[in-house]
Amino acid sequence: MAISKTLVQLRWVATLKLIVHRLGNIMTILITGATGNIGGEVVKHLIEKEIPLRALVRDRAKAANLAAQGVELAQGDFSQPDSLDAALQGVEKAFLVMPNDLHQVELECNFIDAAQRAGVRYLVKLSVLQAGQLPSLFQQWHFQIEQHLEASGLAWTHLRPNMLMQNMRWFAQSIAQQGVFYHSVGDAEISHIDARDVAAVAAVCLSESGHEYQTYDLTGAEAISFSQVAEYFAEALHRPVQYISVTPADFKAARLANGEPEWYLDAEAQLFDCWRTGAGSIVTTAIANLLHQPPMTFAGFAQDYVQTHAQDFSTTARR
Ligand SMILES: NC(=O)c1ccc[n+]([C@@H]2O[C@H](COP(=O)([O-])OP(=O)(O)OC[C@H]3O[C@@H](n4cnc5c(N)ncnc54)[C@H](OP(=O)(O)O)[C@@H]3O)[C@@H](O)[C@H]2O)c1
Repeated sequence: MAISKTLVQLRWVATLKLIVHRLGNIMTILITGATGNIGGEVVKHLIEKEIPLRALVRDRAKAANLAAQGVELAQGDFSQPDSLDAALQGVEKAFLVMPNDLHQVELECNFIDAAQRAGVRYLVKLSVLQAGQLPSLFQQWHFQIEQHLEASGLAWTHLRPNMLMQNMRWFAQSIAQQGVFYHSVGDAEISHIDARDVAAVAAVCLSESGHEYQTYDLTGAEAISFSQVAEYFAEALHRPVQYISVTPADFKAARLANGEPEWYLDAEAQLFDCWRTGAGSIVTTAIANLLHQPPMTFAGFAQDYVQTHAQDFSTTARR
């Protein structure tokens, strides 16, 4: 009698575990770009919320720290649709981001198609401010991907951030070595946004309801020039930092010599042309509305960034 009671209890426990496992699978959120800037921050937010996560990664070794935090890893690549089919099994919601790439439209659309095949319900796409509204390649590509997502039948949210404050990593070396950084946007004002705010919005969309079929234009609280950016970095580093405005041709030539691809520099130049006429200065209240707190300021970002990347800004660091 006691044995059969125990067996019944064991069967119940097994059934419950199966239900929990299946529910877990149904609720799984897949994060792409989890080893990158924004995806990495999205993962942090969702781990804090104790939401079961899967990360699409190209290289498991690179994502070992994610696995150590309990994130399930699925190996896959946007250029290999079979790998996406496998990674998306049992996924309810997904976050889509990838770096700018000559094949970005095709690769992101591969992911959207795979999500549709796998029965994913909702996809949050990382896009760019003024997608479809500016002639620059990045705005055009992201808009094409947004359109493909909208036509897919999946529920969607487009996150359209302005320039990320974290792009300052590109200038760390010249700030450290010469106390200067160069750009070709003159005194254009840009409403830079902290990638952590963008990620926090993505996490809200993925963990709460009511954001389906929305497009969020995400900016910082103020539009500032690179001269002001230099002042914030000078304050954070306690030494002079100067912004030097150069011509688009000189900016491109220096970066070409540095090995950056020409198509990318030309696409950026298209965007910078727009910024010089004020297109980057739009300020929205989306961050405050969605996160119930003001966006991170550039001054605060600079203080954080020089502390967390002290080695990059060290004047004695070997390069
Ligand atoms: N920077 C800005 O100011 C700005 C502003 C607005 C919008 N955006 C948009 O933000 C996006 C870039 O975001 P981010 O800065 O977070 O990128 P990121 O830091 O460069 O991270 C890119 C992630 O994508 C993964 N990835 C790359 N190619 C892949 C592939 N073929 N298959 C699967 N995964 C792949 C990378 O994985 P690995 O670790 O394997 O390389 C990495 O985790 C771009 O689309 C850009 O247009 C940027």
